[in-house]
Amino acid sequence: LVAARGPRELAGMRFLVSAGPTYEDIDPVRFVGNRSSGRMGFAIAEAAAHAGAAVTLVAGPVALATPAGVERVDVRSAREMRAAVLARTASNDVFIAAAAVGDFRPQAALPQKFKKGGAALELALVENPDILAEVAALPARPFVVGFAAETENVEAHARDKLERKRLDLIAANQVGAGLGFERGDNALLLLWPGGREELPRADKRELARQLLARIAHLRAARSG
Ligand code: CTP
Ligand code: CA
Repeated sequence: LVAARGPRELAGMRFLVSAGPTYEDIDPVRFVGNRSSGRMGFAIAEAAAHAGAAVTLVAGPVALATPAGVERVDVRSAREMRAAVLARTASNDVFIAAAAVGDFRPQAALPQKFKKGGAALELALVENPDILAEVAALPARPFVVGFAAETENVEAHARDKLERKRLDLIAANQVGAGLGFERGDNALLLLWPGGREELPRADKRELARQLLARIAHLRAARSG
């Protein structure tokens, strides 16, 4: 697999990448969030741009610099991320959902700061839209790549997500207990209809290059 490793291997292709967590406001100072540093998604955006692709990065709240040559759109909540992504799917060839989207949000954000010392703060959480599943269900869709963060039965859960959301490819990783989040390396299991590839623990930038190589290979096989 040499695709995406040589210079300008992805020239002419347009990538849309989501990255980071989402924050769902409880009140003006508090939120419900998801664990994610954004580093995997930023590494993918950087590697794709380096390989010559035009890259748009839709980023949740992260403390990371924008990779060179990447167009960045900052969002905060899952619903903002959904709008930013859906507005751009038609103009991209590949969508990679590396964001750790919050699955739930408070039913209504309180307009004023909730004061402690009184009644318990009770939160009713409602489910957020699944951005990845929505993109995959579009009639004219890009090549759709999802991630699966799992704490157990990684391959079975990821294969289930691949099929249920009708993805072209899913990158699964084991999270929790010092794995996956807030660190520079990771290991990924790539699954697609009829195939699999294990990417052993490596720097997230190296994993990004290997993931892009697999995407280029699968797309070439499809159109060839
Ligand atoms: N995802 C998304 N929108 C959501 C939730 C998830 O686009 N509201 C995307 C993520 O970016 C990721 C994939 O779906 O690419 C899988 O996310 P994950 O949290 O592993 O799976 P879920 O489908 O949310 O299921 P669960 O959290 O219950 O395992
Ligand atoms: Ca989830």
